[in-house]
Amino acid sequence: MSDAEMIKVDGLKKFFGNVKAVNDISFSVKNGEVFGLLGPNGAGKTTTIKLLLGLLEPDEGEMKVLGLDSFKNEIEIKKRVGYVSEEPLIFKSLTPRNLFNFVASIRNLDEIKASERAREYLESLEALDYYDSLIATLSHGNKQKMQIISAILHDPDLLIMDEPLSGLDAKSVRVVKEILDLHTRNGGSVLFSTHIMEVAQELCDRIGIINKGKIVGIGTIDELRNQADKIGANLEEVFLRLTEQDTSVNDIIKKLQATYRRYK
Ligand SMILES: Nc1ncnc2c1ncn2[C@@H]1O[C@H](COP(=O)(O)OP(=O)(O)O)[C@@H](O)[C@H]1O
Ligand SMILES: [Mg+2]
Repeated sequence: MSDAEMIKVDGLKKFFGNVKAVNDISFSVKNGEVFGLLGPNGAGKTTTIKLLLGLLEPDEGEMKVLGLDSFKNEIEIKKRVGYVSEEPLIFKSLTPRNLFNFVASIRNLDEIKASERAREYLESLEALDYYDSLIATLSHGNKQKMQIISAILHDPDLLIMDEPLSGLDAKSVRVVKEILDLHTRNGGSVLFSTHIMEVAQELCDRIGIINKGKIVGIGTIDELRNQADKIGANLEEVFLRLTEQDTSVNDIIKKLQATYRRYK
């Protein structure tokens, strides 16, 4: 693998009983790139991310994160990666201040600098009022902000974020986008998952469309349009074609229109 690849996944599989959550997935994320895993609920995004972080053991396949083996080098990877999980924060009995101090201490950061920095992020995300509130009492969006701040405090080389914008209001989404932009402009890379097409279209350099545990399209928007044979189409049309949902969506729409006419 070349140094330019921050993530390299080859033939990855993970089954839960007879559920083929990840079924032969391959992709790579290059240095300085924002790569999006875009797919419907249940497509296998979270499972892929957990495998990459060594939180689940693969059934088959090769994975390298920052050139390191996910399973053997979990600790080294954790040092250089910032992770935002799909579930709300688990440290519910802490306050954000406690949480950031904890992150600073396990990551050997200068505590004063880290807390100044956390404050600035809190301010820009309009969440400074919650600095000393119990995490358990925060809204989903505010918990998400705290997770994002904890993930970036140590300036990771790679950010891995599972549905990072879920629950955030429009203004915070704008701020998080800026945070990601600053991160890549300063040499970082990002892998994130989303089920929202506009998010993928706006943020990603390249997108991997994932459906039923498989990558069904990969590349820039233009490359995806080519793969779907939909030149000039928007990402939604491309996505529906690649996930083979376009005809079923058309059928559903026709039925809905007929129902509407019948009862009007
Ligand atoms: N621990 C688990 N045990 C059994 N099935 C699971 C488990 N985790 C995920 N799955 C199943 O694997 C599939 C992919 O799930 P997931 O990776 O969470 O999808 P996504 O994040 O794209 O919504 C789904 O069918 C889900 O129900
Ligand atoms: Mg998920």
